[in-house]
Amino acid sequence: MARTVWDSTVGKKTVMAVSGLVMLLYLVAHMIGNLKIYFGTEEFNHYAHWLRTVGEPFMHYEWTLWLIRVVLVVAVVAHAVSAYQLSRRDIKARPSKYVHRKPRSSYATRTMRWGGIILGLFIVWHILDLTTGTVHSGGFETGKPYQNVVDTFSTWYGNVIYIVAMLALGLHIRHGFWSAAQTLGAGSRTRDRALKTTANVLALLLTIGFVAVPVGVMTGVVS
Ligand code: HEM
Repeated sequence: MARTVWDSTVGKKTVMAVSGLVMLLYLVAHMIGNLKIYFGTEEFNHYAHWLRTVGEPFMHYEWTLWLIRVVLVVAVVAHAVSAYQLSRRDIKARPSKYVHRKPRSSYATRTMRWGGIILGLFIVWHILDLTTGTVHSGGFETGKPYQNVVDTFSTWYGNVIYIVAMLALGLHIRHGFWSAAQTLGAGSRTRDRALKTTANVLALLLTIGFVAVPVGVMTGVVS
């Protein structure tokens, strides 16, 4: 049964929609958390510490965080694998080339593919930068995310990488949220306008909220 659903196009689209919504929830929380940087070192670092102790004493130190990490990894992998398989299917369905050089896929499909690739690369860079410190520009210190974030946005390439990724994220969510709603059956003639507006507002708020952090550092408001 599960196999049949997974093998179907609509099954893969459902996996994309659900995993996308899980990541979206995480991003809303992550963006709100990031904005605490405007309230100073102590509040931001305290929040990062809380992320590790949340759920105690029922949970052990970092258990909740690891649970979130596992859910996110499953969501990212499921999203990427079904996207890849759907796009292979799309290409296979049209084996012969068009007589005129017309692109095989729509503008939205191509931006979603490129956006997805950019975001996948960004997530790897971001973890190596602000979680492990492997590619970090300053003297990375675990438990001191405020200073780590300020260091990241004190380099030109840090700002470029994050801002480009956030713009890609906005576009990806704008179209992705809309597609997910259609796949999950929320679309209808009367609701489509409201869904489009929700997708646009959500994408805009997330992009502005995330970009506010590098902008804060660049303007010296956060230092
Ligand atoms: C300006 C934008 C962003 C800033 C300043 C930022 C900041 C941070 C910081 C400081 C951490 C480490 C937190 C800690 O160790 O306590 C972190 C972790 C993380 N961020 Fe972001 N983030 C941004 C955007 C994003 C975006 C767009 C995504 C997803 C597409 C994302 C996904 C993650 C993930 C998956 C982690 C790893 C959590 C973990 O396992 O520890 N971040 N971020």
